[in-house]
Amino acid sequence: MTEQGMQHAQRLATLLSGGIRGGGYYPAGHPASLQPFREMALVASVMHREGGEIRLAVVDGVLSVGEHLFFAPTAPLQELSRRLEEKGVFGITLKPGVSDQDLMALARLMAEPAGGAAELKEGLALAAISSIEVREEDNLAKTYNEAVGAIRDIFYEIGNGRIPNSRRMLTVVSSLASAAVREPAALLGLTMIKDYDNYTFQHSVNVGVLAMALSASMGQPADQVEQAGMAGFLHDVGKTRVNKGILNKPGKLSNDEYLEMKKHPEFGAEIVRQMEGVPAQVAEAVLGHHIRHDREGYPEWARSFSFGVASGIVAVADCYDATTTLRAYQRPMQPKQAVDKIRSLCGTSLDGEIVERFLELTGRFPTGSLVRLDSNEIAVVFTPSSQECGAAVVKVIMDGTGSALREPELRSLAGGGGFVVDLVDPLVKGIDVSRYF
Ligand SMILES: [Fe+2]
Ligand SMILES: [Fe+2]
Repeated sequence: MTEQGMQHAQRLATLLSGGIRGGGYYPAGHPASLQPFREMALVASVMHREGGEIRLAVVDGVLSVGEHLFFAPTAPLQELSRRLEEKGVFGITLKPGVSDQDLMALARLMAEPAGGAAELKEGLALAAISSIEVREEDNLAKTYNEAVGAIRDIFYEIGNGRIPNSRRMLTVVSSLASAAVREPAALLGLTMIKDYDNYTFQHSVNVGVLAMALSASMGQPADQVEQAGMAGFLHDVGKTRVNKGILNKPGKLSNDEYLEMKKHPEFGAEIVRQMEGVPAQVAEAVLGHHIRHDREGYPEWARSFSFGVASGIVAVADCYDATTTLRAYQRPMQPKQAVDKIRSLCGTSLDGEIVERFLELTGRFPTGSLVRLDSNEIAVVFTPSSQECGAAVVKVIMDGTGSALREPELRSLAGGGGFVVDLVDPLVKGIDVSRYF
């Protein structure tokens, strides 16, 4: 992430914001009105050339442009976030080749006082603009975003020495848990969202979501699915009491540093125990999330305790998310490799029975895998399946001859729609899988 990249992202968003504000002033085609969009198209082409993906989105009030997040936005950026939220837009992607005219059309549509994301999409389609893609916020993504906000608040409050208010998290957990009970695998796509700058925090959200999917797929009742989710969300809150230098240290920790790091489960349990409305089993699972199945692990003094199943569920989810995430000192593993790693930990670190259920849930080709279909097309797995077809829903990104599709196509493979033949290495194909989520 370069300083210059950040400046480009900021400039682009500022110009768009200004363009939307000016959208009502000039009649269409007026020469003065095109100027900011010329500059915007230029900035966009530079960003594309540098390999950046240009996706504008607002997640819990924070505007992002590509990989850049604006935590302290200027007034124009605040205005842009507000507008995107008002329109119910989950993301806008500017594709290579986007022109000044296209951008002006976008700003005019965004400036319309009425209408939401659907109207925006319709307007772009009517103007035959294919270089701009608008994604509507769906319900699950919306709830996920709420979860991100709730957990961010909790970390923030703990960081300020307060016992966090659990109300927001409890609401989110109950709606995610009912979604998980309806269709566990549907939640898996959400966890492909990775925020490299906020590792502990984003990781916590993902572990909670994975834990709920896993618990639901094991047939647990809703209240236990909720507990597994809370345990996942909160499993690492104790890290807020561990020295930041130790947390973010690349490479090996010294003995003393490791001792301090190992205290996070007990710190966490202590915090969770004081949170209102959070069941005692959640604090217990937080305490036990690093006690391994073979009773190694830490805290040493708790090795002989008997922990409930939520703790084993969180351990599996934790391991999976940690291995698939890029960190400063670690290249992420592909979902398939992460699954193999989890399988190798059966019976030592992890509970074999829970791992079995996890493998059933993720299927032979987990969410986020890049695969080849029987039609020779290349696709990204959206919703995995343990059935013969290998995946329930995929996003096709290359046709049978290997050329990239202009518009990735969402396709259901269930019931004869095709099947997955094998895995493809995204590095070989030079594809960043996460951009399809
Ligand atoms: Fe942990
Ligand atoms: Fe963790």
